[in-house]
Amino acid sequence: MSPGFRLFPEQASTMAPRVDALYFYLVGISTFFTLLIFTLVIYFAIKYRRRSEDEPPPPQMRDILALEVTWIVVPLVLALIAFFWGANVFYALARAPQDALEVFVVGRQWMWKFQHPDGQREINQLHVPLGRPVKLTLASEDVIHSFYIPAFRVKYDVVPGRYTTVWFEATKPGQFHLFCAEYCGTQHSGMIGQVVVLEPEQYEAWLSGELGASLAGAAPEGSPAAKGQQLFQNLGCHVCHQLEKQGIGPVLAGIFGTQVKLQTGETVTADESYVRESILNPQAKITAGFQPLMPPFQGRVNEEEVMQLIAYIKSLGQPGAKQAATAKPAESPGGVGGSR
Ligand code: CUA
Repeated sequence: MSPGFRLFPEQASTMAPRVDALYFYLVGISTFFTLLIFTLVIYFAIKYRRRSEDEPPPPQMRDILALEVTWIVVPLVLALIAFFWGANVFYALARAPQDALEVFVVGRQWMWKFQHPDGQREINQLHVPLGRPVKLTLASEDVIHSFYIPAFRVKYDVVPGRYTTVWFEATKPGQFHLFCAEYCGTQHSGMIGQVVVLEPEQYEAWLSGELGASLAGAAPEGSPAAKGQQLFQNLGCHVCHQLEKQGIGPVLAGIFGTQVKLQTGETVTADESYVRESILNPQAKITAGFQPLMPPFQGRVNEEEVMQLIAYIKSLGQPGAKQAATAKPAESPGGVGGSR
């Protein structure tokens, strides 16, 4: 980051210029009309001032259709532009590209914990490759935090009890500030970190731990999916959720991302939030044809473990990634985890 005073954080992601353009549009319009109104107030006050005690008041003007139409249509158009433009940017921010690199983020008092798809963990430091979309799934262990990278124009609340996702694509290598932007207790101001954007080759080197001891935390310990598979065994999930045939609980292979029919007749998408809820509070949504026999795992697994279990369930049924169902527990799916 360059030193010195700057009015705006630098633009270091694909979204930054788009967010800024909208921001400047809104600021520009507000400034223009504020100046216009104040100038006219002063101008009219002088022009139409009462010049003498016996001067009659000016005639009232009424029913000027053109004027009425103008001050209805102009603000309407300006507001609609802001609305559609804002919706466009919002949708772009809310929908991560399919090929995005997925990183899990857990916020807690008072640190940020990251886990990469290959298992690398980091605290208060996030390494990402340049020019590649990175999708973050955010969860909180305790209170509301807010994940904020000014240079990327990314700011998203991290709320306990639910997942939020956000994505970015870095356009400049370097180090960028990461803040918690929601007051979360005494050490809130210390809940800061860095995002390190590396060239793709450097990132690969970092992933495999070759970048050396200067970048601590790069020691992988198995992918989240592999960890999740171990947990799945250790917690005894596999007893009811068998891989091949119907057990007491539904078969989970291939379920992720599909529509699940519930006892109530509703259907829900088996996404991260649904799977998370079904682990922590299984009674909330019972799959059609099953009994509510599963115990709640609230308090027995933490957010990181829930994310690992989800990663495992995901790995059981993603198109083009046939694997973990038959793989040995420590292997990472997709064969990219050769980095230990
Ligand atoms: Cu976490 Cu403020």
